[in-house]
Amino acid sequence: MAKLASGRVGAKSSELLDLFNASLPFDQKLYQEDIEGSMAHATMLAAQGILNQDELASIKDGLIQIKDEIAEGKFVFKIADEDIHMAIEKKLTEMIGDAGKKLHTARSRNDQVALDFRLYVQKNTLVLKALLVSLEKELLTVASYHTESMLPGMTHLQHAQPINFAYHLLAYVSMFKRDIERFDSSYERNNISPIGCAALAGTPHKIDRFLTAKELGFKEPTVNCLDTVSDRDFALEILFNIATLMTHISRLSEELVLWSSSEFSFISLSDEYSTSSSIMPQKKNPDVPELLRGKTGRVYGNLISLLTVLKGLPLAYNKDMQEDKEGVFDSVETAKISLEILREAIKTMTVNISRMEEACKIGHLSATDLADYLVEKCDMPFRDAYKITGSIVVQAEKSGVDLSEMSIEELKVVDSRIEEDVLTFLNLRNSMNARASHGGTATEETVKQMAYYIEWIKGLS
Ligand code: ARG
Repeated sequence: MAKLASGRVGAKSSELLDLFNASLPFDQKLYQEDIEGSMAHATMLAAQGILNQDELASIKDGLIQIKDEIAEGKFVFKIADEDIHMAIEKKLTEMIGDAGKKLHTARSRNDQVALDFRLYVQKNTLVLKALLVSLEKELLTVASYHTESMLPGMTHLQHAQPINFAYHLLAYVSMFKRDIERFDSSYERNNISPIGCAALAGTPHKIDRFLTAKELGFKEPTVNCLDTVSDRDFALEILFNIATLMTHISRLSEELVLWSSSEFSFISLSDEYSTSSSIMPQKKNPDVPELLRGKTGRVYGNLISLLTVLKGLPLAYNKDMQEDKEGVFDSVETAKISLEILREAIKTMTVNISRMEEACKIGHLSATDLADYLVEKCDMPFRDAYKITGSIVVQAEKSGVDLSEMSIEELKVVDSRIEEDVLTFLNLRNSMNARASHGGTATEETVKQMAYYIEWIKGLS
């Protein structure tokens, strides 16, 4: 196939090579970024007197036309053009002639791809942040109905202490807050422009990289060109951010799966976001959280894969780096749809408060409160109190009741120092509300936490 750039190597290459070498099938996705970058580069070249105003105007017109053609699906992509950069430049030259050939002055595909890909990552960082904020708002809305809905808080998946459902959801709000902060921080760090670095060493042309950076909305240009053309940390960062985000999504999904099982029945996912079995007509399956949990695997894979591609690469650009894009595209698309569907599943689920509260009566959740009571009231060393509480729990098990339901008579049999007021401490709701230390589960504390997160969201840009 005829090539736009056929320098040292002849104008024809084998079809097999074209197929193997091309990134066009997947980097077409970057066409908007490529055109945006070329517009800014051309504007800068004109400002520096490297292009005249007529050339600039025809480059801009041509690029706009190409953009429309691609958007409308009319652009014919040819694998021999290798990548989106070549495909657009070739078409531009066919359309406008010599001015098109001047566009690549003081630019290489190495800084061009670094720019396009960075623009894509930066744009999508903002998209993911917005989706995360909208998930946070949904979690806070559901939480606001449940500051008094008790459920067993667990460690080792064993009933531990009573907490409220809002508090549990706020743990996820807190995780996703860190995710948002991670996206913010990588956005800031990578908000610098690679264009104008050319192949690896800069250019003798009198360009103004500050101007191009400004045109593209970057804070400033990067400092060292050799690093810039081989730097894919911005891609690693979005992959890591997404991997961590998906870890959080996966943990919440696991809880949704558990909670919607008949053993728990804490929640019921809406029919709209549940699926049925092809053979068992009675079944309602939590496919959404299961798939969210499952999709975590591919985004971890994408991160490991790019880390592996980059390790051991000598400076500067190497063709290995063309392998950087598909994993990022996949992780971004996976995270986008995951965030959206999780939000909808949360929004439409039904919370079974009475089942949650019933479950609090399994596992003697106020045992720690009894031990604390003995320490305070009877001036007992904690280890003694711990032991006596243990005997009382054994007694409760024998009688087949929960500790919170034992009578004062039964308690006194084990230790005569226990008085009537112990019942207040054994009460499960009191147990929950006793945990009013900063960050604790007491309803009043949970309400404060909720207000904190709402304020934080209001302050986000
Ligand atoms: N398609 C290439 C990529 O995705 C663009 C850069 C090619 N540069 C080069 N010197 N071959 O990485």
